[in-house]
Amino acid sequence: MIKGKKILIVGAGGFIGGHLVKRLLEDGNFIIATDIKPKEYWFQDFENSKNYYLMDMKEISNCRKVTKNVDYVFNMACNMGGMGFIENNKAECMQSVLINTNLLISCKENQVKKYFFSSSACAYNIGKQQKVFIDGLKEEDAYPADPEDGYGWEKLFSERMCRHFMEDYGIEVRIARYHNIYGPYGTYDGGREKAPAALCRKVIIAKKDNKNKIEVWGDGKQTRTFLYVDDCIEGTLRLFQSDYSEPVNIGSDEQVSINQMIEIIENFTKAKKLERIYQLDKPKGVRGRSSNNDLVKKVLKWSYKIKLNEGLRKTYDWISTEINKKGSNLSRFTKS
Ligand code: GDD
Repeated sequence: MIKGKKILIVGAGGFIGGHLVKRLLEDGNFIIATDIKPKEYWFQDFENSKNYYLMDMKEISNCRKVTKNVDYVFNMACNMGGMGFIENNKAECMQSVLINTNLLISCKENQVKKYFFSSSACAYNIGKQQKVFIDGLKEEDAYPADPEDGYGWEKLFSERMCRHFMEDYGIEVRIARYHNIYGPYGTYDGGREKAPAALCRKVIIAKKDNKNKIEVWGDGKQTRTFLYVDDCIEGTLRLFQSDYSEPVNIGSDEQVSINQMIEIIENFTKAKKLERIYQLDKPKGVRGRSSNNDLVKKVLKWSYKIKLNEGLRKTYDWISTEINKKGSNLSRFTKS
C-alpha cells in the first residue's frame, strides 16, 4: 500500500483520476490534484483538501509549479472519450502529448522519483484487431506500430517518451495500457461516453420513456473486453509499486460482443427486449479487441476480480440514480 506520500495526480477531475484520488486519500497520502475542468465539472468531489488546481498541464510553467517537492506523479490526464469522441477529434487528442512531455521535463528538473503514465489499448496495432474474436492482445502486439489514428498514436509516442526519460535521466516510470474502463462516476452522455455507459443510459431511458427500441453503433457484433474501475485502480497501484517499467495491460479477458453486453444490461430490467436499430455509419473503431493478461499475472501476481455482469449492474444502478436525480437531458459531464 502507498501511504504517507506526497502525490501529484494530473487529471484528478476525470473518471479514473477521480477514483485514484479517492483511494490514495483513503490510504493516507497527501494529494495535490490538478485538472483543466473547473471544480463543478469534476467527476468526484473531495471537500477536505485545499490542494486542487484548475490548470492546463499543456503549459510547462504549470507542470513546473506542481511537481515541486512531490514524491510521485500520476499522469491520468488526456483529452479523451469513447469512439464517438476520439474518431472525430484526432488533433485534440494528439495535443495531450504536451501534457506528458512537459510533465516529464518538469519531473526531471524537480527530481521526482517515480512517474505513472495512463496509456491505452488504442496503442495496439490495428491490423491485429480486424476480426470479431481475436486472441488477447499481448504487450508486444503494439509493434510494428500502427495504432488507432490520433489518440492511439499519442499514447504510443508518450509511452516511448516515458521509456527514454527512464533510460536517459533515471526517472522510474510505470505504464498501464487500459482496456475500456467503466463504472460509476463515468461519463454517460454528452458525446464522450464509452459503450458500457452509453448502452446503460439508452436502456434506462427507453424503459423510462416506454420506448421499445435503442440505437446501437455498428452491427453489434464487434467485441471488446471491459474492466471495472475498482479493479483498474487496484491494478494501477500494484503496477506502480512493482519493479516493472514496460507497458502492461490493465484489462479484463472476458471478451464480449456489443450485442452480448446489451443482453446483460437488458436483463437488469423487467421490461420486454428492445428492438436494436443498428447504425452502421456511426464510429465503430476496431472490429475486435481483447486483453491478454499473462504478463500482468506474471509480474503482479494479480488478476481482476469483478466480472462484467456485476460491474455493469453497479454502473447501471449508478446511471439510473443519476438520471432520476437530474433528468435525462442534464449532464454534469458535457464540459471537456
Ligand atoms: N460509445 C458508444 N456509444 N459506442 C457504441 C455505442 C454507443 O451508443 N453503441 C455501440 N457502440 C460500439 C462502438 O461503435 C464500438 O465499436 C464499441 O461499442 C466500443 O466503443 P467505445 O466504448 O466507445 O470505444 P472503444 O472500446 O473502441 O475504445 C475505448 O476504449 C479504449 C481503451 O480500450 C475508447 O475510450 C478509447 O479512447 C480507449 O483508448
